[in-house]
Amino acid sequence: MSDHHDPSDNSTGHEWDGIRELKNPAPTWWSWGFYLGLIFVTCYYIIYPSSPFNNGFEKVINGITGQEVLVDGHTKGIMHLIYDNEFEGVKYYAGAKWTQAEIDALKGKGYNELTIKAGDLKFQDGWTYVNETRREIAEIESLRRDDMARLDSMSVAQILADDEMKHFALGRARVLYGDNCAACHGSGGAGVVSAGFAFPNLSDDDWLFGGTPEALAETITDGREGDMPARGGNDELTDADVASLAGFVIALGSGEARLDDGGELTAGAGTFGAINTVFQENCTACHYANAKGGVLNDDANGAVNLTDAIYRFGGDMAALKETIGNGRSAEMPAFGEKLDATSIKILAVKVHQLGGGQ
Ligand code: HEC
Ligand code: HEC
Repeated sequence: MSDHHDPSDNSTGHEWDGIRELKNPAPTWWSWGFYLGLIFVTCYYIIYPSSPFNNGFEKVINGITGQEVLVDGHTKGIMHLIYDNEFEGVKYYAGAKWTQAEIDALKGKGYNELTIKAGDLKFQDGWTYVNETRREIAEIESLRRDDMARLDSMSVAQILADDEMKHFALGRARVLYGDNCAACHGSGGAGVVSAGFAFPNLSDDDWLFGGTPEALAETITDGREGDMPARGGNDELTDADVASLAGFVIALGSGEARLDDGGELTAGAGTFGAINTVFQENCTACHYANAKGGVLNDDANGAVNLTDAIYRFGGDMAALKETIGNGRSAEMPAFGEKLDATSIKILAVKVHQLGGGQ
């Protein structure tokens, strides 16, 4: 730094490594920005809630979240003069909290998915973004309420026939399905095939218990249990019988062997005549003489169609020998207690739409 100061130039006399500090005024654009900024801040301060004075830290200890306290302990601004903290005839004000009775009353008016819970602060004093967001959520819920009420009054079949309601239901189904079903059935409903415990594919046209709207709603409400007994329940079947039955099931799937409704072979009679006798004696109580399973014989007993080459537990020789030799069982949990009737309806629509609903 040098102390050299020449009054004839515009310098302050300060110089660092050859860089001189001049006394020029700030550029005009910069000054304007500065003054406009000041005006903006002043207006903002008057209109909107701003300074977090008196933000009552002791309240944090008393169970209100720090964020709410911070927004609540602000200077109020004049925004609230034009903003009306009212919804459904209820005026909201600082500090008041939702009681369970008030929430129940709103539910009585048809709101079935309130995002508030007892103990939440109601709208805060004056205008805040939190208020505005809560109000918007309330408005969306009130819009949905009419559609939800319509949904309540319709059967699954009626919803499926009504494009607008169907789309509404499918929109609502996404979260319900993801939360309750996807863990087992996969997010696209394709199920999980594994040698041990298999979750059926919901997106094909192959049903254990039926793909009609009523059957789907029943499955979801009451759950289902499928039990394939080891060796069809007949201990006298030998391992060789089991292997031949597995081969027969593969042939039924590929079309090499075909059965009519009376259990007579219409294809493959030469090769499979003997094993078909064993099949008819041991397997048809559940899978029926035509091997098409319960659903296609109007009996939702969970015994699968063995002629469609769709295998939940695996369709190769080893897996089929395991299935027939040692049996399989699987359980679909009941959702009747966990989900309300409308949610179950929505899920029935969803499963029906996933693929092969009937
Ligand atoms: C814990 C795992 C699990 C969950 C969670 C689950 N399921 Fe299932 N679901 C199964 C199993 C296993 C079966 C097959 C039952 C059987 O073989 O008897 C099944 C069967 C079904 C069927 C019958 C399919 C047919 O072919 O007839 C439907 C429909 C179904 N589930 C829908 C749902 C829906 C909708 C949900 C969500 C609300 C759901 N499942 C949740 C395991 C589950
Ligand atoms: C008491 C009724 C019953 C009898 C008898 C029975 N099954 Fe089953 N079978 C079922 C049920 C129910 C299932 C589905 C199991 C499940 O959902 O866990 C099944 C499943 C199967 C599967 C699995 C198909 C797949 O998708 O992976 C095969 C293969 C099978 N049975 C073959 C046979 C054969 C062969 C016999 C005769 C030896 C037989 N079953 C006898 C009820 C029966």
